Amino acid sequence: MAKKFRVGVIGAGGIFQGAHWPGWKALDNCEIVAIADIRDSALESAGALCEVPPDKRFTKYEDMLKQVKLDIVDVCTPNCYHAAPTIAALNAGAHVIVEKPCATSVAEVQKMIAARDKAKKQFMVAQSLRFQPEHLAMRRWVDAGLLGDIYYARLSLLRPRGVPAWGDFIVKEMSAGGPCYDLAVHILDLALSLMGHPEPVSVAANYWLEISNKPSIMAHDPKRYTVPDEMAAGFVRFANGACISLETSWALNAPEGTYNVFLAGTKGGMQNNPLTLVREEAGLLTNTSVQMNPDSGIASHSEEIRRFVESIKKGLPSPVPGEQALITQRILDGIYNSAKKGKEVKV
Ligand SMILES: NC(=O)c1ccc[n+]([C@@H]2O[C@H](COP(=O)([O-])OP(=O)(O)OC[C@H]3O[C@@H](n4cnc5c(N)ncnc54)[C@H](O)[C@@H]3O)[C@@H](O)[C@H]2O)c1
Repeated sequence: MAKKFRVGVIGAGGIFQGAHWPGWKALDNCEIVAIADIRDSALESAGALCEVPPDKRFTKYEDMLKQVKLDIVDVCTPNCYHAAPTIAALNAGAHVIVEKPCATSVAEVQKMIAARDKAKKQFMVAQSLRFQPEHLAMRRWVDAGLLGDIYYARLSLLRPRGVPAWGDFIVKEMSAGGPCYDLAVHILDLALSLMGHPEPVSVAANYWLEISNKPSIMAHDPKRYTVPDEMAAGFVRFANGACISLETSWALNAPEGTYNVFLAGTKGGMQNNPLTLVREEAGLLTNTSVQMNPDSGIASHSEEIRRFVESIKKGLPSPVPGEQALITQRILDGIYNSAKKGKEVKV
């Protein structure tokens, strides 16, 4: 049997155990051989799950990278701790997949790209939303030319009462920001990828914090954790004339939650929820829905890991390269800069 890829994990908490592990387990050409996490409880539970022996469980990722020869490293630490382990793993000669957001500043993403180039290894950001069946269907519509040139996107991912209540990664020291980094990064990445990653020019945005750090009906306990911000809205202009309007929240006095990615092009429009294609047919403006195959078996995280490994094996481009994450990060930085300055900023 062909040699298996030896995979190491850095940060073996919720997303690794719940979403990445099933992806690795499904691949018969990969095996998890080492795990690093600063928490003993995570090392124990993830170690048992992946059957990694105690002597290959590390509290410092630097020790793991020194002592174990790895082909691939899966980085699932909180947002502010993505860049350093990614760069260290690339320097140690491993291919790296890192959870979203790639990092928390343009400078960090640039350093990750430089480390990738120096190491000549594969690097992917785990933007799992791209690999959900309805979003793969949207990709097909774009690739089939049914949208034409996309010039407008309206992105809305609102939770009326939904500050994450299950961990300490929401505090600013670990997250860098609120729903922009937790939620908007997903829909922004998805829309940018469908639009072909146009060059961003400017952002006008604001963010708010009015509800989450006071007592409310949320499970989130503001006496334990306070959050940096809870709602953001912005408008992004691109060099090709396209624009994105974006809103996201963990807490907002809104009548309902939303999860909507709408894109409008010269030939057609489309949205994800419910999945709809809009275009003129037989002289009528027609909304087309799609019967999704319930047995298609695509779990987005497993699919992203499968594609990452396939790209390494076949020498294909990264399914989500650092350059694309850099565009997303320029916009995220722009949102916070614009809010602080109270005006539209160049990105
Ligand atoms: N794609 C998605 O749908 C999705 C969903 C949830 C979380 N995420 C992302 O995954 C990342 C992790 O989130 P989570 O929910 O798993 O958080 P978590 O707190 O459950 O897990 C993070 C783990 O990293 C460990 N850790 C922290 N610093 C470390 C270090 N320096 N070295 C080694 N381990 C370290 C923690 O002990 C913890 O076990 C975040 O960046 C988050 O944005 C993505």
